[in-house]
Amino acid sequence: MKRFIYRLPELKLGEILAEEPAPLEVLKREDQEVIVATYTPLKDLKPIRVEEVSEDWQRWRESFGPVEVEEFVIMPPWKVPIFINPGMAFGTGLHPTTKLCIKLVREYLKEGESVLDVGTGSGILSIVAKKAGAGRVLGIDISEEAIRSCRENAELNCVSIECRLAGPSDVEESFDLIVANLELPIFRKELDNIIPLFKRRAIFSGLYRREELKEFLKMLEQRGMKADRILEDQDWFCVGVGDAGN
Ligand SMILES: C[S@@+](CC[C@H](N)C(=O)[O-])C[C@H]1O[C@@H](n2cnc3c(N)ncnc32)[C@H](O)[C@@H]1O
Repeated sequence: MKRFIYRLPELKLGEILAEEPAPLEVLKREDQEVIVATYTPLKDLKPIRVEEVSEDWQRWRESFGPVEVEEFVIMPPWKVPIFINPGMAFGTGLHPTTKLCIKLVREYLKEGESVLDVGTGSGILSIVAKKAGAGRVLGIDISEEAIRSCRENAELNCVSIECRLAGPSDVEESFDLIVANLELPIFRKELDNIIPLFKRRAIFSGLYRREELKEFLKMLEQRGMKADRILEDQDWFCVGVGDAGN
């Protein structure tokens, strides 16, 4: 893992924080300048140095979890807060299927790419994608409650996401990355409507136990695709189809 160090005018820092949601760590302030570190390079700026990060350093960083005191949540600046108003829509981030999708979004998404979130629920995966550097993000769901919740949560997180009441067959555009946290019976009905909507990579989640995983992998194979990542958490499986698996 690499760490990019920049020296910036103090005034530029505010501009960058507003434009780039990537977490920045302020290392030093001197006169009118700041030295900052980031783990993804900043657009159009040249770092003063690039460091290789050791595993110890990563472990040290990970040990600073959020601390909750009363209504306050205290966290280091490299964590990215996401606000979700718990409502009727699915997607608080507690469920293993959502967590697995978040991991693969981090792995698959490239800066500026477009994302379609099929079954957006609370909008959580759309918000994660946007905060992880996505360009255009569209979240669709067939539930009106979910679309209301997606819009409310997008606003809470100050991100621009389109939340649309629609199923996959209503979408006419295609996207670099698709994330679909649904269920096997929904994939049986909708997979053929979802596949034409992705250009590069797709994440399919919500498969419970090995039998469902096996059936889903077979469905992919019958359509000329194969998984290149399979993640598991508490018997829930998430399948990634990368550029190589398509
Ligand atoms: C398991 S939740 C996922 C919520 C959120 N994306 C997450 O990862 O936590 C599945 C969502 O898919 C929606 N859904 C079910 N069938 C759908 C379909 N055919 N097209 C679009 N959305 C659908 C449901 O309304 C629900 O909000």
